[in-house]
Amino acid sequence: MNETNKLLDKPTMKRFPKVELHRHLEGTFPVEKLYQLSLKNKLERPRELEAFKKEVQFPKDSSPDFLTFLAKFHNDWYQSLDDVYFITYHSVKGLVDDGLYYCELRFSPEHFALENDFDRAEITRLIVRAGNEAADEVGLTIRYLLSFNRSKQTSAEMIELYDRLKRLEIPEIVGIDLTGDEINYPPEKFRDFFALIESDGLYKSTIHAGEVTPSEQIWEAIRNLHAARIGHGTSTIDDPPLQEFLKQSGIALELCITSNYQTGSWEDERNHPVGALYRKGVPVTLNSDDPFIQNTDLTDDYIKAVEYFDFRLQDLVKLNMNAIDASFLPGRLREDLRKAYLEKVEEFKQSYGLGGAG
Ligand code: ADE
Ligand code: ZN
Repeated sequence: MNETNKLLDKPTMKRFPKVELHRHLEGTFPVEKLYQLSLKNKLERPRELEAFKKEVQFPKDSSPDFLTFLAKFHNDWYQSLDDVYFITYHSVKGLVDDGLYYCELRFSPEHFALENDFDRAEITRLIVRAGNEAADEVGLTIRYLLSFNRSKQTSAEMIELYDRLKRLEIPEIVGIDLTGDEINYPPEKFRDFFALIESDGLYKSTIHAGEVTPSEQIWEAIRNLHAARIGHGTSTIDDPPLQEFLKQSGIALELCITSNYQTGSWEDERNHPVGALYRKGVPVTLNSDDPFIQNTDLTDDYIKAVEYFDFRLQDLVKLNMNAIDASFLPGRLREDLRKAYLEKVEEFKQSYGLGGAG
């Protein structure tokens, strides 16, 4: 079997070591565990697994649509703190099934706390504890980003919550994310919040921008929200000066092939911008976004990248090195990760008879 055919084989690609920067905890739940939670909490959702999945995931046969996709996130799954622990623990444990070696997992404390008015600080500590325990058990290195949803809170409310959460001084939290509906809540509404984050200097920021909006929103996110990375940013493909700026500044795009199709961010997966942008030298990374909602996994996106863009093993490694370069780990830890990651790649090559070792 040649290299490409090996990479197109799902069990092989699953084991390829991956670094992921853009994945939402709320979009990562193992669907069977969520089903268990739904039955336990007697939620008004189908009591039969297949019907349950059909309702809670993005239907494969439905037309791509951003707001329909976002409407799949519900706040009522968790009726106790134990429920939040349970679903976080199992979500993080599952990350190694996708071959993840390092992950920056993002979650919104507001999302988990809203329905029952749980204490946001307690929820934040609990999620990090559950995630860390699961990650330790499976040998995954994990960090967290705090997501703030633009349709759920104003900039002033975000500032209030952020001020509380930063006082927790949780070292594994390394960044801030602005998520949600960028059509009706454009980035300029959140300048005050991100000016504060910038002046505090405690965290780096990534902004969902240019996902379903023109590249002006990406410029705004960079210039006025001080984004160090861009969530999606598919409209970069229409803006060569922006491509040049990203190359010069090292600001990376967190692209997500399946999600970008389902949200209507990109019409045709087979000519998704990741191929062209990568070949132009723009720092791009491959991510899953919300695999549970999408009914896919990150491995599926890697296979698509090989199939549609003719990426070879060395290109996949480069995409992961881009992710390490753009990670929010402090410098020395990033160096350690780079070395450890390349060792994992060597082990992978040897196990599957790929590359120089083959
Ligand atoms: N939250 C979860 N997935 C998202 C996406 N693709 N865009 C904006 N907000 C999100
Ligand atoms: Zn996202």
